[in-house]
Amino acid sequence: MSRLLLVSNRLPVTVKSDKDGVSVVRSAGGLATGLRGPHERSGGVWIGWPGDVSRLTPPQRASVEAQLAELRCVPIQLSASEVSRYYEGYSNQVLWPLCHYFIERIPRQDRDWDVYRKVNERFADLVARQYQPGDTIWVHDYQLMLVPAFLRARLPQARIGYFHHIPFPSSEIFRSLPHRNELVRGLLGADLIGFHTHTYVRHFSSTLMRLLGLETVVDRVEHEGREVRLGAFPMGIDAQSFENLAKEPAVLEEVRMHREKSAEQRLVLGVDRLDYTKGIPRRLVAVQRLLEREPAWRGRLRFIQVAVPSRTGVEDYATYREQVDELVGRINGLYGSVHNVPVHYLYRSFNEKQLAALYRAADVMLVTPTRDGMNLVAKEFCAARPDEDGVLVLSEFAGAADELGDALIVNPYDVEGMADALETALDMPQEERRTRMRILRARVKEYDVHWWVRSFLDTLEATPLAPPRVE
Ligand code: UDP
Ligand code: G6P
Repeated sequence: MSRLLLVSNRLPVTVKSDKDGVSVVRSAGGLATGLRGPHERSGGVWIGWPGDVSRLTPPQRASVEAQLAELRCVPIQLSASEVSRYYEGYSNQVLWPLCHYFIERIPRQDRDWDVYRKVNERFADLVARQYQPGDTIWVHDYQLMLVPAFLRARLPQARIGYFHHIPFPSSEIFRSLPHRNELVRGLLGADLIGFHTHTYVRHFSSTLMRLLGLETVVDRVEHEGREVRLGAFPMGIDAQSFENLAKEPAVLEEVRMHREKSAEQRLVLGVDRLDYTKGIPRRLVAVQRLLEREPAWRGRLRFIQVAVPSRTGVEDYATYREQVDELVGRINGLYGSVHNVPVHYLYRSFNEKQLAALYRAADVMLVTPTRDGMNLVAKEFCAARPDEDGVLVLSEFAGAADELGDALIVNPYDVEGMADALETALDMPQEERRTRMRILRARVKEYDVHWWVRSFLDTLEATPLAPPRVE
């Protein structure tokens, strides 16, 4: 196995500071757990941003750096202006909304491109400094779309992979970006470009044809004398670990408590970052519609919505939060009683154990993004159900819907249809719940995160290296 250099905007670690000082711990998340094995075995490094460490004292910073080095993580520091313009600005106010079809959210004037470009160049410089001949480089996600080409210019012979974790939109959407050609050329610096679904690959191929006149033949495209491969690699989760968690006695005790609290009620669950792509307002209105239409469900439904604070420095996220807060208040005001309220809204993050308990306790899981590259929560829910119970209601616009056809598939824009699906889920006979969940679980367990890493890296290893340049 060659040494693996992983590159992502965020390092898979969390910097924690408390009265005992600062410590660096590995983050849970799919990417981090999936890549931990190859990262450790290959002896390579992971290059990325450790988050905002500006409030740390110089000795605390030195301690963080030493702990990162121990985990073989190489930090890239971002200045306040880079955080605001590269991360919050171009990445999260231009590329994120565009790839999720929210084109009207893009600022009228694009002021952050130069900083995005510069930070991508800095990432490439740092990777090039770490590179040793024979290494494999794997770049992740939309924050770093220019890195593959910057690396190709610095390391013509390197083996470079790129994975796009969010949707790649229709070429009709993508071509509205002023810097569309630079971005696409940036990706073409890689030997292999991976997406979650065949639809995203198709959109990328038509974008190549439309913008650069490049034709994809099967899964290959010629660019500047090199062959670039494209592929669909649906990301999985660490299914075994979620299943194990869901069987732990402490977790089962928590499940019992959740159920006890709602003994006479059915538990419906939503778990998302508080992001406008996740479709939380329409989901709430669907719950409201069911209560409006079917008085029999009033008082018998408890909807827990976990909303993890995210990108709070971006204005659209603050506005979205207000919208969600308001809707929750409205529904609870309408259908709550002095004893209970229908919507339990939790604006905070939970650890994997707590999530496993919620997943296992839920009767129905609502995953209804208006667009989502994959959506790992949907898969985690299935993995956490060794009891083969629980119903997944899943948006047709989540990448996961391509694999999880045995969920109740809904159109997240169709509020009435979602209310119908919720009712169907609540009324579903146990035998049908079991049949569906068995199929979902088999899929999630077979195509897990380890399969994803292996299939991407095996394909990348099999790509021929770029021919040496003749001067
Ligand atoms: N997650 C978490 N704590 C929470 C809520 C979510 O750790 O309180 C994790 C969840 O387990 C999942 C990830 O965050 O692994 C969310 O991934 P997903 O693909 O569903 O959506 P994203 O946030 O990447 O858009
Ligand atoms: C999505 C993106 C990731 C990103 C994550 C959390 O999953 O695809 O690249 O890391 O959201 O967002 P954040 O902005 O906090 O890194």
